[in-house]
Amino acid sequence: MNDHHQKLYEYSKHIILSNQHVSGAYVASPNFPTYHYCWFRDGAYIAYAMNLAGEHDSARRFHAWSSQRIIENKDSIIRGIKRAKAGLHLDAKSILNTRYHLDGKPESDGSWPNFQLDGFGTWLWSLNEHKKILKEPLPNNWMEAAGLTADYLSILWQLPCYDCWEEFPNNIHPSSLAAIYGGLNAYNEIGGKITPNLLSTLKDRINEYAVLHGYFTKFLNDPSVDANLISLALPYAVFSVNDKAVQETVSQIEKTLGIFGGIHRYAKDTYYGGGEWPILTSWLGWYKVQLSRIPNVGNANLLRIQAEKHLDWCIDHSTIRSNEVWLPEQVSEHMNSPEYLTQWEKKWGHSANPLLWSHAMYIILYTNLLQV
Ligand code: BGC
Repeated sequence: MNDHHQKLYEYSKHIILSNQHVSGAYVASPNFPTYHYCWFRDGAYIAYAMNLAGEHDSARRFHAWSSQRIIENKDSIIRGIKRAKAGLHLDAKSILNTRYHLDGKPESDGSWPNFQLDGFGTWLWSLNEHKKILKEPLPNNWMEAAGLTADYLSILWQLPCYDCWEEFPNNIHPSSLAAIYGGLNAYNEIGGKITPNLLSTLKDRINEYAVLHGYFTKFLNDPSVDANLISLALPYAVFSVNDKAVQETVSQIEKTLGIFGGIHRYAKDTYYGGGEWPILTSWLGWYKVQLSRIPNVGNANLLRIQAEKHLDWCIDHSTIRSNEVWLPEQVSEHMNSPEYLTQWEKKWGHSANPLLWSHAMYIILYTNLLQV
């Protein structure tokens, strides 16, 4: 790796730290009004990246902030569990919001697609990583929040919900099931008691998405993939990175979503035209580094070289603004559906830049490459 790689790593840390609110919340993007909130999903990855970068206090402040959000929404969790068990519809008072104001207040206008479960699984995973990296016990109130989150996920996982791209609410998504699996498994590692039965049921459900084509698909009965399927192995570890179906999935992702180097979310994505995402490009690189560490699965050197190319791609698609180097949410190149770009720009303005989650994934890939 070279100075350019390191420079973007340093800027990434700086951008994340300077956009962490005093409350501990990370703003998703400081320059894009729709993202002036903190998401559990983005925050959990950002906190993990900050731990890898040695910025433990930042991660600690985020986990304290998120634990508080869970505990103050205990009534909604209890109500949600009760209603789900009784087969009743989950109203706004029985679910956890997906995004929160930076001071912790739930977003109240009800217009956001709030019923998303993956972020809470991801948060449990990140909490366990925090414990493993710092080798320190988690505070009691974090454990209480983790327990409530695990209870919520253990019951609600069977319901259709929006996926990690906040779309397709009528489906059950393999990537969301994987985040729940990874979260519940992590909860067991920090002392929880989720039955092995539930974990194996979740795994069986995820496996159904690989039956037809030998690789995991975004939907049942449809051969297309979504780049979020990398998460089934990394980080949620439902399957190992060298699992055959996982490797096939990654190869489909590269073939169909990564023709020009940057990775798309999925082929029919039209959000801001459906461009290439630094989050996913780094994610694929992270996967390759992890795969390169497994003996006899391929050419380790080649995998590392490829992973470094993913870092390069991020650098080539960063922008210099206000004396900083920024990574956007997506790059408007090789768009799936360019005709959609202006309609989104009219609705919400230019797409998010910088996006803290993009910087976090860059840090994750960079620090992984350093460790090899
Ligand atoms: C993405 C989500 C993300 C949110 C905030 C949405 O457009 O689809 O995955 O959590 O932005 O970054």
